[in-house]
Amino acid sequence: MNMERLVQKDKAQFVREMFAEIAPRYDLLNRLMTFGQDVRWRNEVIQRAAMPARGKLLDLGSGTGNLAFEALEMCSACFSLAADFTIPMMRVGRRRQQVQGGRDDQLAWSAADAQLLPYASGAFDAVVSAFLVRNLTDVDESLREQFRVLKEGGRVVILDTTPPPDRFYAPVLRFHLHTVIPILGKVIAGNSDAYTYLPDSTEHFLAPEKLANKMLLAGFHEVAFRRLMFGTVAIHWGEK
Ligand SMILES: C[S@@+](CC[C@H](N)C(=O)[O-])C[C@H]1O[C@@H](n2cnc3c(N)ncnc32)[C@H](O)[C@@H]1O
Repeated sequence: MNMERLVQKDKAQFVREMFAEIAPRYDLLNRLMTFGQDVRWRNEVIQRAAMPARGKLLDLGSGTGNLAFEALEMCSACFSLAADFTIPMMRVGRRRQQVQGGRDDQLAWSAADAQLLPYASGAFDAVVSAFLVRNLTDVDESLREQFRVLKEGGRVVILDTTPPPDRFYAPVLRFHLHTVIPILGKVIAGNSDAYTYLPDSTEHFLAPEKLANKMLLAGFHEVAFRRLMFGTVAIHWGEK
């Protein structure tokens, strides 16, 4: 195995173990860290996915399935497939489905790597993800896979954090990222490492223009993005 592959394997394993550990507290922390804004962003993601009435949606890197659930709220005859490579995150979502009395023929769970999808080409009307792409070892590979599994005319929508812009309020954002978030992570999830990884991966992630460019290279057209929360989060979208 060459060095690059080894580093990629290490990152994937680190990411999987980290999310497995924080799974029971993930949703609560997410809500606190985004000041509850994540609910609105997810709603916008599903709106931009523009699902047909009986459409099939793939929530990639679903974690506990927040986008998959949101899709069913907004499109009651649709089908959501929640896919992730961390089983404990999906278990939390599966329990939520059972508690809410959700139907298995509307929401299913799938163990899958976002860089090598086990689905047929053209299987979905929309592929959506939230806070996944920053964790990937190979963004280009995953975008190509997302393109492949979409139907012609299908939409991809990506919600993720972006490096904070160099504005006058940058020190406040960095304080939130590097001090407040790790403290919340330690107090609530008992894991400050995971919440040190989050700000680091945010600062080193692609600028929105670069991610848009990668989407174009993967084959998407009508690519655009919108920045949110003082430029620290962005929603990208495109069409096959
Ligand atoms: C920050 S969580 C986001 C979960 C969910 N999308 C949400 O917004 O609540 C990132 C998720 O991506 C998953 N993930 C990271 N890399 C992945 C990969 N290569 N394939 C599948 N899932 C992956 C992690 O297991 C984790 O559940």
